[in-house]
Amino acid sequence: MRKKIVAGNWKMNNDLNESINLISAIKKGINENNTNVDVIICPPFTSLETAYALIKNTTIKLGAQNMYYEKNGAYTGEISAGMLLSVGCEFVILGHSERRTIFGETDELINKKIKSAIQAGLKPIFCIGETLEQRERGEAFEVVDDQLKKGLYQVSNEDIKNIIIAYEPVWAIGTGKNATPEQAQEIHNYIRKQISAMYDSLTAEKLIIQYGGSVKPENSKQLMSMPDIDGALVGGACLKADSFISIINSAV
Ligand code: 13P
Repeated sequence: MRKKIVAGNWKMNNDLNESINLISAIKKGINENNTNVDVIICPPFTSLETAYALIKNTTIKLGAQNMYYEKNGAYTGEISAGMLLSVGCEFVILGHSERRTIFGETDELINKKIKSAIQAGLKPIFCIGETLEQRERGEAFEVVDDQLKKGLYQVSNEDIKNIIIAYEPVWAIGTGKNATPEQAQEIHNYIRKQISAMYDSLTAEKLIIQYGGSVKPENSKQLMSMPDIDGALVGGACLKADSFISIINSAV
């Protein structure tokens, strides 16, 4: 049985005070006795250290939204895996479509980041997903397969166990238009089959595949009740404690 994992990607939202307020509200609302779902929050870099201090005695876990693959050096503006670990991060979102489209990240760069994160001891939340044009051209499976193979190039059987995959169709991100549970399930099932072929069936069976893209309290239960959907990567709806908590509770 795979455990559900609900993660909140705050994106570029919340300064330090706003982060403290949101985390306090999440802590108040969360049911600490609910061991059926793991919760991860991914605030901006500037709030990570404080966030960790606020959640370290709770069941909530910490993730970052990006990192660079080098350990240190002359890379102005970048943050390494080791730096993220030093402020309490356990996870890091990599390959998000906003990084791919706005910041020009390639599959090759994402692959380097994934390998560097794992080597340092961080668990990547590796995002993949097709655009609307690609879906309309009937290329969704092909695109997802390509991103999967390139992103996981030379990632070993041992290391894949520390990766969460997030299927985030680009057309569903921030649009209010989520994939239907059936559309998402179809791709999640395909991803699991590809992982089984690339690694083995037991690895595929254990792999957590989250869905992301306009997840809200109104659709989260239906999405997460599909057999291959193991949780959610939530954007907009994680910025309000009550909607984030409702999504977490719907994963039970
Ligand atoms: P929204 O939930 O705002 O559509 O964002 C999804 C997302 O990009 C999470 O990483």
